[in-house]
Amino acid sequence: MSLFDALRYDGKRALVVGGASGMGAATAQLLQDAGAEVVVMDFAEVALPGAKAIHVNLADAASIDAALDQCGGPVHALFSCAGVADGTPGIEKINFIGHRHMIDRLLSGGLLPRGSAIGFISSAAGLGWEANLPQLLEFLATPDFDAAVTWAGEHGTAHYMFTKQAICAYVARQAYPLLKQGIRINAICPGPTDTPLAQANKEMWLGFGADYRGEVGIEASTPLEQAYPLVFLCSDAAAAISGVTMVTDAGYFSSGVTESFPAATDTVKFLLGRY
Ligand SMILES: NC(=O)c1ccc[n+]([C@@H]2O[C@H](COP(=O)([O-])OP(=O)(O)OC[C@H]3O[C@@H](n4cnc5c(N)ncnc54)[C@H](O)[C@@H]3O)[C@@H](O)[C@H]2O)c1
Repeated sequence: MSLFDALRYDGKRALVVGGASGMGAATAQLLQDAGAEVVVMDFAEVALPGAKAIHVNLADAASIDAALDQCGGPVHALFSCAGVADGTPGIEKINFIGHRHMIDRLLSGGLLPRGSAIGFISSAAGLGWEANLPQLLEFLATPDFDAAVTWAGEHGTAHYMFTKQAICAYVARQAYPLLKQGIRINAICPGPTDTPLAQANKEMWLGFGADYRGEVGIEASTPLEQAYPLVFLCSDAAAAISGVTMVTDAGYFSSGVTESFPAATDTVKFLLGRY
């Protein structure tokens, strides 16, 4: 198969959760361009012509169940994009627990066939998750939506960084059991990306790494620039890739680790050793 054929989605049905805005919306559009039949689930109204739109509230397990009943199968590619910032009630559910519940339901319903793939949007804020692995594994061992919510409440982890670490650890941990069912799972870890969510938290989200971007002469990513690697990871061109959290931050984290851009080193050290 040629490279461009391997990247295409003809004959595939893609579900984009959080596809009304930002990176999810760019992903949904790119998937249509690549030939997919696209279903978009979101809390907000979906404005993509040609896509089936389904309302969902990721903070509510019953709403997720109802949305999946409307969606049906098969789902050849699931894009788990929706997320919110600190300060939003239910962040632990919206950013991770609801997405996990959706995957569990898709699996138990036989809706993710062999050859399908899952792509999460984590965050550069989730990097360094390995240092917190024991706690993350304890959290991931919770059997269902309600147990995970209770655990997060009891352990004070209902915050952005923990939800993004949880995605990274989940992706890494699930690669093996999912591939036994023929399913791949990966994530991107974006750096600052110019979306409505980032604009609403401008100082913290778009201020992050502004010195690095100034030095190398780039802007914050566009949603489309993040959608490209996400769509690649769920395509047949990435058949050998699973369990990966791909850092899509234009090199900020790596330059901090190696001290080639020393101004990033303190931030990276914080991320790597904060627990
Ligand atoms: N923008 C950045 O700089 C940045 C950086 C790293 C990671 N991220 C992550 O990227 C993902 C996409 O964010 P974005 O920046 O494109 O923001 P966005 O706000 O444009 O998109 C997020 C989408 O999630 C939906 N959503 C929110 N609450 C929901 C709920 N309860 N149920 C269902 N859908 C819900 C929103 O309606 C929206 O369409 C998020 O997971 C975010 O954490 C963003």
